[in-house]
Amino acid sequence: MKKKNVFDESPSTYEDIVNENISMSGLDITFFTKLKIDEFRRRLPSLGIGDNPRILDFGCGVGETLKYLKDLSNDVCGFDISLESADLAAKRNPEVSIFSSLKELKKEKEFDIIVIVNVLHHVPPEEREEFSTQCRNLLRSGGWIFVFEHNPLNPATRYIVSNCEEDKDASLLNRRALDSVFSSRDFQCSSVSYIGFFPFRPKLFRVFERFMFWIPFGAQFCYLVQKK
Ligand SMILES: C[S@@+](CC[C@H](N)C(=O)[O-])C[C@H]1O[C@@H](n2cnc3c(N)ncnc32)[C@H](O)[C@@H]1O
Repeated sequence: MKKKNVFDESPSTYEDIVNENISMSGLDITFFTKLKIDEFRRRLPSLGIGDNPRILDFGCGVGETLKYLKDLSNDVCGFDISLESADLAAKRNPEVSIFSSLKELKKEKEFDIIVIVNVLHHVPPEEREEFSTQCRNLLRSGGWIFVFEHNPLNPATRYIVSNCEEDKDASLLNRRALDSVFSSRDFQCSSVSYIGFFPFRPKLFRVFERFMFWIPFGAQFCYLVQKK
């Protein structure tokens, strides 16, 4: 029988649980999702991928990131190993194809971009190589992988993760750990940008943050790697 993951237990309350955990910052899940989408959108033009890229949201959960990705392309799919989460994501995004079976997903055409948002820290270290092989096989040659992760160097991030019930299995990754996950000779050109330095909404803070991307203390980071 398929092993239940923590996200099978309460998909409909996922956003509430995250919001409760970050409430001390005065912010909510939407704020952090939009930070990541802004970074994704900012990096997109430099990748040499045309308009309307074919995007896979790998580990889409209940569709929190997916709902913004589908505004950037009309060729977006989602995948999650949690059947309950994938079902809810499909209900919320009926125009998007959502998979919970890797076998079915593999029948799809290769993707230009795979987005992996706050997933890898839930994948046990010994399973991460297999995870990167799965992504590599779904990506076209020259395609890109965007990984967004919690930054273990940020003390507020560490505090929130250590107090979050959904993160009880989490093992955070830094840039070096991600380099080793994507160390196959089929990958090249990794780069990192840090985001989420200021827990304040006004847009002026986003302008400052754009110049701070190289400082390794943002709450989250974006790791970008290309398949040869
Ligand atoms: C913190 S949630 C993030 C959900 C979504 N990416 C978002 O932006 O809200 C992590 C998700 O990763 C999924 N996940 C964990 N291990 C996975 C794996 N090996 N393959 C696919 N999804 C996985 C979980 O089921 C869960 O839905």
